[in-house]
Amino acid sequence: MSALLATALVHATFTSAAPTCNSSFTPITASTFIKSMNPGWNLGNTLDAIETEGSWNNPPVVASTFDDVKAAGFAGIRLPVTWAYHFTSQSPDWTVDPVWLQRVSNVVDEVVQKGFYVIVNVHHDSSGWADFTKSGANVTQIEERFYKLWYQIGTKLACKGESVAFEPINEPPGTTAEHGALQNKFNDIFLQAINDAGGHNGQRVVTLVGSGEDSIKTSQWFEPPNPKFKNPWGIQYHYYSPYDFIFSAWGKTTWGSAADVSALDADLASIRANFTDIPLIIGEWSASPVATETAARWRYFDAFIRTAAKYNTSTILWDNGNDYLNRATHEWRDATALSILQHAVKGTVNSLPDSTTDGAATTQRSSAYIYHNVSESLTAKTLPFLFNGNTLVAATLNNPSPAPLVKDRDYTVSANAMTFPVSFLAPLFPSNSSTTDPSPSLPATITLTFSSGAPLTITLLPYSEPVILSPQPGNSTSIPLPGAPSPDLHIPLAWAGQERPAAVKAVKSDGTFLVDDWTQYLGPLQQGRMTFSGQWDWDESGLILRAAVLDAVRAAAQSTKFTVEFYPREPGNAVSFTVIV
Ligand SMILES: *[C@@H]1O[C@H](CO)[C@@H](O)[C@H](O)[C@H]1NC(C)=O
Ligand SMILES: *[C@@H]1O[C@H](CO)[C@@H](O)[C@H](O)[C@H]1NC(C)=O
Ligand SMILES: *[C@@H]1O[C@H](CO)[C@@H](O)[C@H](O)[C@H]1NC(C)=O
Ligand SMILES: *[C@@H]1O[C@H](CO)[C@@H](O)[C@H](O)[C@H]1NC(C)=O
Ligand SMILES: *[C@@H]1O[C@H](CO)[C@@H](O)[C@H](O)[C@H]1NC(C)=O
Ligand SMILES: *[C@@H]1O[C@H](CO)[C@@H](O)[C@H](O)[C@H]1NC(C)=O
Ligand SMILES: *[C@@H]1O[C@H](CO)[C@@H](O)[C@H](O)[C@H]1NC(C)=O
Repeated sequence: MSALLATALVHATFTSAAPTCNSSFTPITASTFIKSMNPGWNLGNTLDAIETEGSWNNPPVVASTFDDVKAAGFAGIRLPVTWAYHFTSQSPDWTVDPVWLQRVSNVVDEVVQKGFYVIVNVHHDSSGWADFTKSGANVTQIEERFYKLWYQIGTKLACKGESVAFEPINEPPGTTAEHGALQNKFNDIFLQAINDAGGHNGQRVVTLVGSGEDSIKTSQWFEPPNPKFKNPWGIQYHYYSPYDFIFSAWGKTTWGSAADVSALDADLASIRANFTDIPLIIGEWSASPVATETAARWRYFDAFIRTAAKYNTSTILWDNGNDYLNRATHEWRDATALSILQHAVKGTVNSLPDSTTDGAATTQRSSAYIYHNVSESLTAKTLPFLFNGNTLVAATLNNPSPAPLVKDRDYTVSANAMTFPVSFLAPLFPSNSSTTDPSPSLPATITLTFSSGAPLTITLLPYSEPVILSPQPGNSTSIPLPGAPSPDLHIPLAWAGQERPAAVKAVKSDGTFLVDDWTQYLGPLQQGRMTFSGQWDWDESGLILRAAVLDAVRAAAQSTKFTVEFYPREPGNAVSFTVIV
């Protein structure tokens, strides 16, 4: 192509000398493609890493990762790719490094060879050069660059088979109807570019996007592409909702009330009602083990997949490499969640752990665990379950030594609960004082098998109050506020149960909350709690308080008490320290 502007090109006929493909291509409808790739998995934080593959938490992808994904039952893979740092020339050609194009092409081949359907996209470019909503953005130039980029991707991947689809761009920013209309134009520029690139691209499935790739703005502003393009198309959108639960904001560690389930249903119903005849795929969703409580997560996985199926919508799980698949060890971090997902996709009924869902609760229970406070005497433990019409077929102890449980000796089961007597539990909770052992042995787990659906693996977890190890500077409960600017503050902790915090509360010396004062109107488990990742985080050795939180203490000019809460959330299962002004 010559250096014509993309805007002009959209109105042109297809002009390129298409590569002659020797590969076969069997035309497929968007509906069949989207159905066939369900359920899907995202190769997150890899080819999309900034600046390049390997820059973030994952090493370069290896083909065996796709074997792991296949073995877990996934049928499709979304390959997010960031191109921004792989241009070797500027306007008007915007040449993409052929080495990078070849790398992407090779990964596509690896995925296709394993029998997956795959979606290739333009990813974090959306918040960089391609952000046409930035003030002063040269939209003409973004159009030119976007066209040239997709022309080159389209040329490189022109002869891939029908199991390869394209998505124009990930989560394009947009807050107004004008942005929404511009995104529709960018969808057409993308279609023009891949059609100009030729090969099989004229028949290739595409998943088009609306502003933000969110369900509401897509519903409001998305318009079908120019009918001159004959590509089979569906709509892709992303769903991370409710925000507070998915991102562990404001101490929201519960999910699964009737209201929670109906809000999920209403969201997916609304976009389906806007696009009754269009294939829909949720290209990203998650409830990561890093951010969510286990029983709540299992309930969310089950409800999310069933609701998507109800609205004829396929799903692709987001996995940044720290969430689900441990690519180094080939192990899934929450195999039970994966099994719940796969059974829900097939429509088989899962039994699920019951858990606290009441926003007014002061404690949070979870039947994904048999918790035992080691300073209390051991008593029989009753765990409520949502059997959902299934019957319990077997219970098996996995470790310390595998053994089947004997009904009515090791457990009893009622219409909605299981009870484990002290005689069974006592040998599995041998240690009464040393839960702060830095290298505790693996906790015992029991796998419950039901007449239908996913087996549930529940964990027997002794716990006591974790201990703050001496931080620097200061001592374990009082830390002088460091001078600005200060980095994140690390508080070393000796875990004594689940090896992560559940929530962190921040109260100033005058009794008001350090951040998000409005949380006073939330329930007791949420008041004054900060937000995971942005305000607090953790690593294997303790809590991380973000620099921004120390800035907030400085701005408030008041000593602030931080209470770090653990699972199970109940009074007493917390430690506190004060940052002294
Ligand atoms: C198709 O095969 C011909 C003859 O072998 C070859 O010249 C051409 O480069 C091939 N085209 C593609 C796109 O691989
Ligand atoms: C905007 O981009 C176009 C295309 O690259 C270029 O011709 C034009 O000079 C740019 N305008 C400004 C103000 O930079
Ligand atoms: C379409 O989506 C919008 C925005 O989410 C929503 O307000 C509207 O109710 C939806 N339309 C239908 C028919 O549900
Ligand atoms: C699902 O949606 C597709 C269009 O995307 C349609 O062809 C198919 O009939 C729908 N299936 C059901 C069960 O509604
Ligand atoms: C742990 O110690 C408490 C108090 O000393 C005692 O009541 C309880 O039975 C002990 N628990 C176990 C599992 O031995
Ligand atoms: C901890 O630090 C506070 C304030 O710096 C001080 O008042 C207190 O005596 C210290 N406690 C110990 C045990 O060092
Ligand atoms: C364990 O139970 C004791 C006695 O009820 C209580 O004082 C303590 O706070 C509990 N520990 C934790 C970590 O919840």
